[in-house]
Amino acid sequence: MDKIHIIGGVPLKGAITISGAKNAALPLMAACLLTDETLTLSNVPYLADIVTMANLLAQHGVTLSFRPHAQGRSLALNASKIHNFTAPYDLVRTMRASVLVLGPLLARFGEAKVSLPGGCAIGTRPIDLHLKALEAMGAEIKLEDGYVHARAPHGLQGATIQFDKVSVGATENILMAAALAKGDTVIRNAAREPEVSDLAHCLVQMGVKIDGIGSDELRVSGVAQLHGAAHVVVADRIEAGSFAAAAAITGGDVELLGARADMMQATVAALTDAGVTVSETPRGLRVSTTGRLRGADLMTQPYPGFATDMQAQMMALLSVADGASMMTETIFENRYMHAPELTRMGANIVLHGASALIRGVPKLRGAEVMATDLRASVSLVIAALAAEGETVIHRVYHLDRGYERLEEKLAGCGARIERIWSRKPLQVEAA
Ligand code: UD1
Repeated sequence: MDKIHIIGGVPLKGAITISGAKNAALPLMAACLLTDETLTLSNVPYLADIVTMANLLAQHGVTLSFRPHAQGRSLALNASKIHNFTAPYDLVRTMRASVLVLGPLLARFGEAKVSLPGGCAIGTRPIDLHLKALEAMGAEIKLEDGYVHARAPHGLQGATIQFDKVSVGATENILMAAALAKGDTVIRNAAREPEVSDLAHCLVQMGVKIDGIGSDELRVSGVAQLHGAAHVVVADRIEAGSFAAAAAITGGDVELLGARADMMQATVAALTDAGVTVSETPRGLRVSTTGRLRGADLMTQPYPGFATDMQAQMMALLSVADGASMMTETIFENRYMHAPELTRMGANIVLHGASALIRGVPKLRGAEVMATDLRASVSLVIAALAAEGETVIHRVYHLDRGYERLEEKLAGCGARIERIWSRKPLQVEAA
């Protein structure tokens, strides 16, 4: 398996271009299933998860073509010849977001069979909210042999859905289902993440009326047919936040080109509390640190709160801050797998249930560490960039799921980082 070697201690200096958001591109790709016309997405990041979603859609019968584009890679998707309504275990197991095909397949074809995602590295992550909401819209749902069989032979009906928990994926699935349902659907306690709004804006372009975009109450007026559209995927706020943490921990000065400050307010506030200077520029965000970092207390929350997807990166940063910090994870259980690895690099972290007490140390030291999930992996990269000596990160396939050209982007700012390939790199022009 590939490894990443990093020799720490170089302050990052320069500019990094932020890619399109993985978590926006995945639901947008699934939205192609809602129409027999072509949906063209640009600024699509080239990542393992995008390839997985492409393969999933292809086996349903979608034709896909990746092309170079002025605004990043573009992807044309056409779902006029769908012949298979099953999302198989092998694909759903590798990427939970595969469950996003459920809503659109069911809404357009009255039928879908999707493998249950099963356990995952950051907790149980059920899909009960997705299923209950689809039932409220008239779907018949059966669970058999590890699969969800959903049927709506006479189509879905608009309904009022009150989620008892904020879920990004459930909000997206129901938004897509509601687009082709008869009548109006009201989604209460909807997720407000920018990626949900990006999907909603694309659905509007495809012909649906949606009120309340960006709020926790979405009202969708379903239509009989949707048409094609061209949509630019929003910038990846988590990638931007990750590079911001990398710049900050090394005492660097980096401009994040295309980063959207308006979508990263909680991350900017967290960095600022920790003594990092963050300012908006005409091209994005500039992040720099001159003095020592200082401890800060953080709690993960649904958007606009501090993102669970930034928790590991901030923990790496706070592990070398002056004083103590308290981190509380409220979204996922078991999302501190990076903590023991950071401890192996010299961090002083004590876990207690959903909380982590981080007592800042003057310096981290390089070590051999193991990546366990996407954001945990990048937190080890961030720690390694500031550590004394060499760090070797194993299982970097997790990073390939969510960070496009990570080594190249960091090396462009002076980082001493190298990937040791154990296999050939992914081919860029995959179908
Ligand atoms: C999305 C993101 C992921 C991010 C997460 C939270 C994508 C592809 N992934 O994941 O990067 O970490 O949002 O911001 O966009 N839950 C239930 N029942 C359900 C669905 C969710 O109990 O039916 C719970 C989950 O276990 C979790 C919480 O709700 O505790 C939030 O999960 P959710 O927002 O659904 O996460 P994802 O959409 O899977």
